[in-house]
Amino acid sequence: MTPPGAVPTAAGAAGREPAVDLDDVVREYRTGGEVVRALRGVSLRIDAGEYVAIVGPSGSGKSTLMHLIGALDRPTSGTVRIAGQDVARMSDGALAELRNAHIGFVFQQFHLLNRTSAVDNVALPLIYRGRNAAGRRAAAVSALEAVGLGHRLRHRPSQLSGGEQQRVAIARALVGEPRLLLADEPTGNLDSRNGAEVMALLERLVVERGVAVVIVTHDNEVADRAHRQVRVRDGLVAEDSAAPTVPTDVVTPGVPAPADTPA
Ligand SMILES: Nc1ncnc2c1ncn2[C@@H]1O[C@H](COP(=O)(O)OP(=O)(O)O)[C@@H](O)[C@H]1O
Ligand SMILES: [Mg+2]
Repeated sequence: MTPPGAVPTAAGAAGREPAVDLDDVVREYRTGGEVVRALRGVSLRIDAGEYVAIVGPSGSGKSTLMHLIGALDRPTSGTVRIAGQDVARMSDGALAELRNAHIGFVFQQFHLLNRTSAVDNVALPLIYRGRNAAGRRAAAVSALEAVGLGHRLRHRPSQLSGGEQQRVAIARALVGEPRLLLADEPTGNLDSRNGAEVMALLERLVVERGVAVVIVTHDNEVADRAHRQVRVRDGLVAEDSAAPTVPTDVVTPGVPAPADTPA
């Protein structure tokens, strides 16, 4: 059971609050005497209904960033707010509840239970929501219908194609009505046709449900389909296609901006 008032509901608190808001985030790993600065001051705001690709070379900090966005980790310094809540102030239990209420995860390897039907795989996250069995099943069926698998409810993962398995995983990520869906290389194990189908599905979710989707990918074609590209390099955001590009002379203090001239 969720303690009353612990987590605002996705529907009620949607407002214009960002899905996730990072301010000057540093994440250091300490191993033995050595300190690795995986993130060196990242500020990033992602709103409901955005479709963002995070790209960058291996070791640049993408997974570290994804873990912080997904409330799987806390920053060394700086602030991470998810659905308005500062993760640094939350206990492990409260973080788990925040993830369960607001965030859906999709992985390259699907991570489905192999001996379990599609509908039971999808219903699983709802067990922690205190829903009864009939309610869980109804929600799982509707999530599977939303990803085009209403005719595969009783199939086990081994009886499904790779693309279908990933759609089951997406249904499982969606069944709790998250405001944020995080996908780490979701098309990495799929051929190009199935990959394109999964991408089209993710895009539809953004448009129809207003879910913020964040994808980590090495694939430029996948990144290009997102509406916003965030390029990470050496623990910093090197490029953000959503950042306004303001010519420096326009914002120099004391220098008046040039008058607007109609194009
Ligand atoms: N648990 C860890 N302990 C120590 N160093 C780590 C750990 N996780 C990642 N790193 C280091 O932090 C840097 C960023 O890693 P990561 O976020 O996994 O990059 P990417 O996902 O872009 O490949 C790398 O130099 C990596 O070696
Ligand atoms: Mg990684």
